[in-house]
Amino acid sequence: MTTARYAARESAVSEPKTVRPFAVISGAQVQQVLQGREKQIVELVEATYRLHGAGDSVNPPSYFLRFPDRPSSRIIALPASIGGDVRVDGLKWISSFPENVRAGIPRASAVLILNDHDTGYPFACLESSIISATRTAASAALAADWLSRERPRPMRVGFLGAGLIARYIHTFLAGSNWSFDDIGVHDLSADSAAGFRCYLEQSGTAGRITVHESAEELIRLSDLVVFATVAGEPHVSDPAWFAHNPVVLHVSLRDLAPEIILASTNIVDDIEHCLKADTSPHLAEQLTGNRDFLQGTLDDVMAGQVKVPPDRPVVFSPFGLGVLDLAVGKYVYDEVVRSGELHVIDDFFHELRRYG
Ligand SMILES: NC(=O)c1ccc[n+]([C@@H]2O[C@H](COP(=O)([O-])OP(=O)(O)OC[C@H]3O[C@@H](n4cnc5c(N)ncnc54)[C@H](O)[C@@H]3O)[C@@H](O)[C@H]2O)c1
Repeated sequence: MTTARYAARESAVSEPKTVRPFAVISGAQVQQVLQGREKQIVELVEATYRLHGAGDSVNPPSYFLRFPDRPSSRIIALPASIGGDVRVDGLKWISSFPENVRAGIPRASAVLILNDHDTGYPFACLESSIISATRTAASAALAADWLSRERPRPMRVGFLGAGLIARYIHTFLAGSNWSFDDIGVHDLSADSAAGFRCYLEQSGTAGRITVHESAEELIRLSDLVVFATVAGEPHVSDPAWFAHNPVVLHVSLRDLAPEIILASTNIVDDIEHCLKADTSPHLAEQLTGNRDFLQGTLDDVMAGQVKVPPDRPVVFSPFGLGVLDLAVGKYVYDEVVRSGELHVIDDFFHELRRYG
């Protein structure tokens, strides 16, 4: 591998039908680009949702690889293509091994492959657990903003599930002008709750921090509720807990029983994607035999086509779109190119003449 001052060659290879050298971008480089840029990334995610809503993307269903001998684990393939100024194709390949956490390493690991729009050649492999957590958190912060515009801005946030994704969501809320009087935490694992509390204290965030013993107490006391557990099936089923009409970011997708979904305004990122894989909205569809409980997508809300009444809970269930990973991944790639620190694998593509 060599480190090349790449900016000059980059403009040369943007001509059609030239094979770009293959680059590898490490997690350290990804983090260096994304850190402190929460507002830009939220704007990028908003633009990408709008592009997707306008049809300038291809985002087929995610493919779930599961294992009979390791039922709690999975690896998901998210292929996608995005137009607009980004103009890139690619694939996120992301593992979820929840048992990792007990061994002290994160649950999720991932790579993102970017493919050239004109030649199809892969031109970069990026460490992607950070990109994935970043786009997830940016989408949650974006949804919190748009879904609370018709109601008093939430001042009490509650995190149900206090792992890495919860940490990223808090960072993105804080980095995009949210502040809270109260921050509640509930986790089945006392260690996770304590670790998250420690992160909050070290981040210097304002607001009272409370670890709640029960999910009910946390939900009843929060007007912005973030679900980031690893629950495989619903464990919250009493609509009375939501009688105060909170904004609910249902990032872990499978926590809420259909009764809660049916009593709420439901917004998703993409309807076809979200009504799959036994998510809570999928369970509600199976129960009712229809999709009447779904009001639309976040893009519909941003376009003013769907209103979010303040007198009901609103639940955002984002399935997680590969186009978001592509947009954030391409942003990272462009920034690394600009910095001149792109690590290229020389001769990665070797058979480039048809007849040798
Ligand atoms: N929708 C998306 O686009 C998207 C993207 C990335 C991650 N996710 C989801 O976010 C979730 C969190 O991911 P993570 O990396 O932070 O995982 P993690 O393992 O680091 O943390 C999950 C935490 O949830 C806790 N938990 C599990 N069940 C619980 C319950 N019933 N009540 C309270 N706490 C509970 C665990 O003890 C753990 O501390 C996962 O479900 C993941 O699939 C969604």
